Amino acid sequence: MARRDPHSYADLDQGVIDNTHLDLFVNFAERSVHGGVRFQLREPASGILDLDTRALRIGVCRDGAGREVDHELGESDRVLGSRLRLNLPRGTEVIEIDYQTTADSTALDWLAPEQTAGRAAPYLYSQCQPHHARSVFPCQDTPAARFRYSAAVTVPDGLTAVMAAAPTASFDGRVEGTRTFTFEMPQPVPSYLTALAVGRIAARDLSPRVRIYAEPEVLDQAAWEFAEVERMVEAAEEIFGPYQWERFDMLVMPFSFPFGGMENPRLTFLTPTLLAGDRSLVNVVAHELAHAWTGNLVTNASMEDFWINEGFTVWAERRILEALEGQEYAALHAAIGRISLDEAFERFGADSPYTRLNTPLEGVDPDEVYSEVPYEKGFLLVTLMEREAGRERWDAALRGYMDRFRFTSITSEELLEFLDQELPGLTEAVSAREWIYEPGLPANAPTFTAPHLESVRRLADGWTEGERPGRDDVAAWSPEEWQLYLKWLPQTIDLAGCRYLDETFGLSASGNSEILVSWLLLAVRSGYDPALEGTRRVLTTVGRQKFLRPLYQALLSREQYRPLARELFASMRGRYHTLSRVAVEDLLKEC
Ligand code: BES
Ligand code: ZN
Repeated sequence: MARRDPHSYADLDQGVIDNTHLDLFVNFAERSVHGGVRFQLREPASGILDLDTRALRIGVCRDGAGREVDHELGESDRVLGSRLRLNLPRGTEVIEIDYQTTADSTALDWLAPEQTAGRAAPYLYSQCQPHHARSVFPCQDTPAARFRYSAAVTVPDGLTAVMAAAPTASFDGRVEGTRTFTFEMPQPVPSYLTALAVGRIAARDLSPRVRIYAEPEVLDQAAWEFAEVERMVEAAEEIFGPYQWERFDMLVMPFSFPFGGMENPRLTFLTPTLLAGDRSLVNVVAHELAHAWTGNLVTNASMEDFWINEGFTVWAERRILEALEGQEYAALHAAIGRISLDEAFERFGADSPYTRLNTPLEGVDPDEVYSEVPYEKGFLLVTLMEREAGRERWDAALRGYMDRFRFTSITSEELLEFLDQELPGLTEAVSAREWIYEPGLPANAPTFTAPHLESVRRLADGWTEGERPGRDDVAAWSPEEWQLYLKWLPQTIDLAGCRYLDETFGLSASGNSEILVSWLLLAVRSGYDPALEGTRRVLTTVGRQKFLRPLYQALLSREQYRPLARELFASMRGRYHTLSRVAVEDLLKEC
């Protein structure tokens, strides 16, 4: 029996989809995608084939000869969605399914024109990771399976469709007033890496293999912000070997996009909150780029081993940053990461299974337990192994790892087995099994030192004794040092202190969203009313979960701000992405 993914009905022993063709008709009036999907199986199959769906209306199913295929759509499970069970005639190689998405599609975010930068046209985008591709098309929605695909996407005239695939052509659609865009994805990908966006989208080349897509209104700003990404790709290739996806294009999303970035191959999706105006948030691009190796090439077999994607990628991200900006800079990022790891441990409790790297997720919605643990605890383990092996040996083994497992999906066990073979004694020396299978943070966690870290830390620790940063102290601070300083200050400070920081350093006006939100959190928790305006602005324009959740939490932590939190959420709930909406709803329920 094939390995089981707790978040999928797929059983790869029944048959494996090799190729998928999607024919999608995007209907903005109905907020629905009318789809036809055509599967080519790797080998002829017979009998039962289970597929994943969620909130899809299923029409006719046929085989390659046009004969109807018996099927049964199961009841909807909260986490898994509905199993679509096909009963294939003997020797079936091709399956075609007509279907339609519904308003409950968890992957699709349909935006009214007012929710876009241009306010001129509606917008649609998908976010499929971890288990939402099934709400865009029926599929074997497990990262353990990969397929190649092609697509034809028909949209209203004047709008552009882009996908995480190579664009091949565009022409007038069969229906008047429509245009069809076609795509080809020649590399096999897991379902969670399929992605689509439709809207007023313009593009500019930044290098022969890097292009930025965005609404016309933000294109100039985006092109400037990400102008140096080609250098990043080159730096990454130096460390991890040749880039395997031909192009590294990026799409700047509308504000409701719930993540910082999403590593959709050939077309990374990025939150517009990265447009700081000073290129200070490009580490997120380094992260999504690094996924081209760790995650997209070598993939976690299920969300239980999500750390194999994210832990290695955070490590790879910081190696890229180190190559471009130096060791000190990477250490600052590690320190910021460590703060968010400690916060995650606090959220779950250090004994919680969600503080393991390999997390048991049977019956658990991966979105509900999403946290920094796989990222930052994973980063610490990879760093520990790198230090123990020595960089040269580690890098060589890592290249071997990517070679050995390219375009496949693996579990923690397979990773350990590989390491035990290539670097005998290493996993034992660092107690890797304890890191992976036990909760909490092992005592041998690596630490980071850098002169800048120490001085910022000292200044923050001195706050309660009355120490205040002067203009000279901060003159040379990087945005990362600002973030660290604000995060290291006590949870709440007095109002005079808030006023001093705000008025001396103009924090409420910071264009760097990480600094701005770190400051607003401190100020709101401290009851500093002048910060409410900025908080309101963020909560009414930004959809990124990383910012929404803590900001609402900060408002709710003070009695006098609770009505404001409720009011803002009531007015915004229809505009947040489902994920962000549910996360904030849960917070509101708690109090
Ligand atoms: N793949 C993730 C985003 C994701 C994870 C989406 C799980 C859905 C489910 C992406 O690579 C990511 O980690 N983004 C981070 C940025 C990063 C610098 C840590 C984010 O969105 O904050
Ligand atoms: Zn990531």
